[in-house]
Amino acid sequence: MGHDAARDRKDEQLDRDRVVDDDQALTTQQGVRVDHTDDSLTAGERGPTLMEDFHVREKITHFDHERIPERVVHARGAGAYGLFQAYDDWLAEYTTARFLTDPAETTPVFLRFSTVAGSRGSSDTVRDVRGFAVKFYTGEGNYDLVGNNFPVFFIQDGAKFPDFVHAVKPEPRNEIPQAASAHDTLWDFVSLQPETLHAIMWLMSDRALPRSYRMMQGFGVHTFRLVDANGRGTFVKFHWKPTLGTHSLVWDEVQKVAGADPDFNRRDLWDAIESGNFPEWELGVQLVPEEDEHAFDFDLLDATKLIPEEQVPVRPVGKMTLNRNPDNFFAETEQVAFHTANVVPGIDFTNDPLLQARNFSYLDTQLIRLGGPNFSQIPVNRPVAEVHNDQRDGYGQHRIHTSATSYNKNSISVNAPMPGCPGAFTHYTEKVEGAKIRKRSESFKDFYSQATLFWNSMTEVEAEHIVAAFRFELGKVHDRDIRARVVDHLRHVDLDLATRVAAGIGVPAPTEAGRPNHGRTSPALSQLTDPVTGV
Ligand code: HEM
Repeated sequence: MGHDAARDRKDEQLDRDRVVDDDQALTTQQGVRVDHTDDSLTAGERGPTLMEDFHVREKITHFDHERIPERVVHARGAGAYGLFQAYDDWLAEYTTARFLTDPAETTPVFLRFSTVAGSRGSSDTVRDVRGFAVKFYTGEGNYDLVGNNFPVFFIQDGAKFPDFVHAVKPEPRNEIPQAASAHDTLWDFVSLQPETLHAIMWLMSDRALPRSYRMMQGFGVHTFRLVDANGRGTFVKFHWKPTLGTHSLVWDEVQKVAGADPDFNRRDLWDAIESGNFPEWELGVQLVPEEDEHAFDFDLLDATKLIPEEQVPVRPVGKMTLNRNPDNFFAETEQVAFHTANVVPGIDFTNDPLLQARNFSYLDTQLIRLGGPNFSQIPVNRPVAEVHNDQRDGYGQHRIHTSATSYNKNSISVNAPMPGCPGAFTHYTEKVEGAKIRKRSESFKDFYSQATLFWNSMTEVEAEHIVAAFRFELGKVHDRDIRARVVDHLRHVDLDLATRVAAGIGVPAPTEAGRPNHGRTSPALSQLTDPVTGV
């Protein structure tokens, strides 16, 4: 067991699967004790190995099959268990989700932090988005809030996700470079898909260099929907705010730390929990009544936009504390399976096209990554709520279903859906109509305003870091046309930003702003960080 923290329902459930191998006699997988494991069974002291050496064959065969595919994105991560508790019941006016509204309820959670682009063995401190995925083991079933440490995403429609990730990941010819943001393909994609610009501003900022997972904000990103007891919906954005505040490393530090301690963020999380220094986050929500759906100058269904907190404040809901490290990285942190479609009564989706694609993608990828349709039975994924259905068989089936039947409708045994029964999930009733069409709504077409808002909100030091980051990353792009196209987009964010970036990457300075921005004034160029030396 990990840290000696207060026991919760999930922790007790996991007891059934915990195995203590220390101080035990070595056995085969069949439970037969083994007298010797260092030498193969051979014909004569120097002769060939015998087929009948079942122990060594089993040992090597199992080893040969130890690896599973790493996640197609977010491959590198670190996880921990904890608890969530609502402060009070104010949100009950908007949702039936008990774990959000009953302050007497403590809900076990598992949280996995991750980098996005790197492989499983890559460094922690790279310039990248961080995943912030929370699985709530609620009494009504598992709810997964699969978020990031940025409030906005790079693309608006999941149809572009394979393109985006292929552009972000290392080039196919040589798997270079492994760093998140420095190469031609990403910047080519950015230059041709300006909807990326707002998230790119976050990526070039210090937000992409978190000092600690304990000091990172988390965001659900999409607009989701809360649903009350009468079926009334309210739009919602989810926010996690760390008690320790939000802190970043600087570029010079991340480079050195990546070399000196590639496990820097992982180790920090592990050590803090082991020493009883439990990290905490406050969950907050921004609520928008359905009648205000079109009250903003952006589309609520567009995941490249945030709702400014000046317009809709974040209201506190409850607190999450991480208090226990996993016992086994592979069993728990590697095999955990988050899915945006894991929702519980009181929480529902919107028609955000990025969210809709995610609702397909996670289960699909996990079917191969975790070897078939029964991965929800893996201990870390198993709900604390009871599971009863007619799904049967398949690879990795661990349950022994004793019922004589496995179909519906059924007059022999009772395991049937119960329309209208308390606690059953009912999809939100939404009127939808329109022609089948492949065309993004015009309301998604402003790519620059919020990138400008972000730029204008920076202090001068933060702005300098952004300029230096653009210069460093774009300075590695071989194709000058790509550099120039990105600068042209930056001209639409802010002329001063574009001018400062252009000066560091050998492309002509833009002559006029793409759009007016009166929000910032610039320091002299001589005050800026050199992209090559970093000083
Ligand atoms: C994995 C967040 C968009 C497909 C993840 C993980 C996070 C995450 C946190 C890691 C989960 C873990 O720790 O196991 C997000 C956010 C998005 C986004 C916040 C946008 C708002 C997308 C889209 C797709 C997608 C649009 C596909 C259409 C995947 C896949 C994985 C993944 C396939 C690997 C899952 C696994 O192997 O278990 N994402 N993602 N994501 N994401 Fe996303």
